[in-house]
Amino acid sequence: MPIRDFTSCGSEHLGRKIRVLPQVSSTNDLLKAEAEAVIAKPGELLLAEYQTAGRGRLERSWDSPPGKSLLFSILLRPQITDHSLQLMGLLVSLGIYDVLGEYFKTNETQPEKYQQALRLKWPNDIMVGKRKLCGILSDAGLDRNDEIFVVVGIGLNVNQTTGDFPEELRSTATSIYIMTGREQDRIELFRLLIKNIDRYYTRLMAEGSDWIANTWLKRAGIAGTMVECRNNGEIIQGKCNRIFVDGALELELQDGSVRVIYSGDFA
Ligand code: BTN
Repeated sequence: MPIRDFTSCGSEHLGRKIRVLPQVSSTNDLLKAEAEAVIAKPGELLLAEYQTAGRGRLERSWDSPPGKSLLFSILLRPQITDHSLQLMGLLVSLGIYDVLGEYFKTNETQPEKYQQALRLKWPNDIMVGKRKLCGILSDAGLDRNDEIFVVVGIGLNVNQTTGDFPEELRSTATSIYIMTGREQDRIELFRLLIKNIDRYYTRLMAEGSDWIANTWLKRAGIAGTMVECRNNGEIIQGKCNRIFVDGALELELQDGSVRVIYSGDFA
């Protein structure tokens, strides 16, 4: 089945409506504009085969050739306070991380090789060793009725070859194809991703958001370890203490002082 015919996967909250477009500027930008105008409904999902102006974190661009990766955005209107909206990126990254671990287990003969290298990197990256496999960008906003929403955009590198990445990213990015040497079924992956992100979102609806930060920290395995962050040209090293409800990371520096990090690049 071509991905353009994919319309539903029977999930509870997310992806009840799925649109697949051959090309957009950015799935986040389009869904955000529709959310502001109250045209798009919570749980709606927009996937594009190609983005002419895909956006990454920290004003970077996100480029991928047509039909090679999974580029999609989900509109969420969780009933949580506005400062918890950043947790939505962590929630989605948990859902994707789980799926990738399981996917390797089911589809590869040496799953340990990939599972061990798979890791979560704050705030929202999914890495294989030192290379980035998936990026997530959350855009929060207010619609014309003053209701808060968040659009979470996902870029998962699936079937790109090394040459498909811009030259400057070739040593830091990877795709499932590059890792495994095999072309992957994007539809199967997409279906699994929606189902699992939906599972986490359903838990959020039932239990609130208190568990998200701790679950993420546990999966990322960085609580209590030394980490290094580049932030506006500054390098900050510290012990990772915790994640706050607004998604910020608390680091304890060597002199005993504490820094709260809202954005930056981790090693
Ligand atoms: C990052 O910098 O790591 C975040 C990358 C997010 C890319 C995705 S692709 C789908 C969605 N639309 C965008 O313009 N960006 C996100």
